[in-house]
Amino acid sequence: MAATIIDGKAIAATIREELAADVSSFHASSGVTPHLAAVLVGDDPASAVYVRNKQRACEKTGIASTLHRLDADTSEEELLDLVGQLNNDRQIHGILCQLPLPGQISEQAVLDAVSPDKDVDCFHPENVGLIAQGRPRFLPCTPHGIQQLLVRTAVETSGAHVVVLGRSDIVGKPMGLLMVQKAEGANATVTLCHSRTRNLPEIAATADILVAAIGRARFVTAEMVKPGAVVIDVGINRVDGKLVGDVDYEPVAEIAGSITPVPGGVGPMTIAMLLQNTLTAARELHG
Ligand code: GUN
Repeated sequence: MAATIIDGKAIAATIREELAADVSSFHASSGVTPHLAAVLVGDDPASAVYVRNKQRACEKTGIASTLHRLDADTSEEELLDLVGQLNNDRQIHGILCQLPLPGQISEQAVLDAVSPDKDVDCFHPENVGLIAQGRPRFLPCTPHGIQQLLVRTAVETSGAHVVVLGRSDIVGKPMGLLMVQKAEGANATVTLCHSRTRNLPEIAATADILVAAIGRARFVTAEMVKPGAVVIDVGINRVDGKLVGDVDYEPVAEIAGSITPVPGGVGPMTIAMLLQNTLTAARELHG
């Protein structure tokens, strides 16, 4: 039987509607419009598209956004200077530095420089530490978006075996941290696999929920999926001009219980969670 398609685009639209109502009532009570500052360095076309999508989503939700475009040869000092100005700007509630940054700039130095109160990507070590301890200020956008897909499609996570493929700081590691928490939509048994994992296909095939975030096109084949499993595809790879995920979609969809498409699965959810964090930041900064 073919898998149910998890429609991230539709679920993200619902969340944006909920957020638009929250943004509107926050504005009515405080007079404040949440405001996201996006920083884009260089001219990577994919990054430009992601940032544009984030700004459009802000607009639909009643959140203000400002784009700071910097040249590809911007120095680390110049970027740190801008981040410092945004940290001190009372009108700005969230700061997003689109990754990757050009090679001459240390991503770690820049992400560490973003004020933890405005770190809507949840990349600052203080915010990562708070997630680890189960008392988050912000939730990491992609992992939280995936968790919302599971909750909103009534997938039982408590006691489930979640296998995460990939150990990136943006997805894999925080995904594992989130799912292992003592919390609704979590309480899972988590296995985090990566390029050095032995028997990765066998481990993947024991997953009730399989999260593919390794950045390799069609890496997850049907043999790596347990019949009926929930398959979440975080990959965005361009192959012959076409966007494909980390999952070999058609054969896996024959086996899985449910599956996210690429595009239209996880991507729109990441953006919705960024908006939610921006509202959270505005609420915190304005009492
Ligand atoms: N580049 C790829 N994914 C992300 C993300 O979630 N946030 C930022 N800032 N950059 C990214």
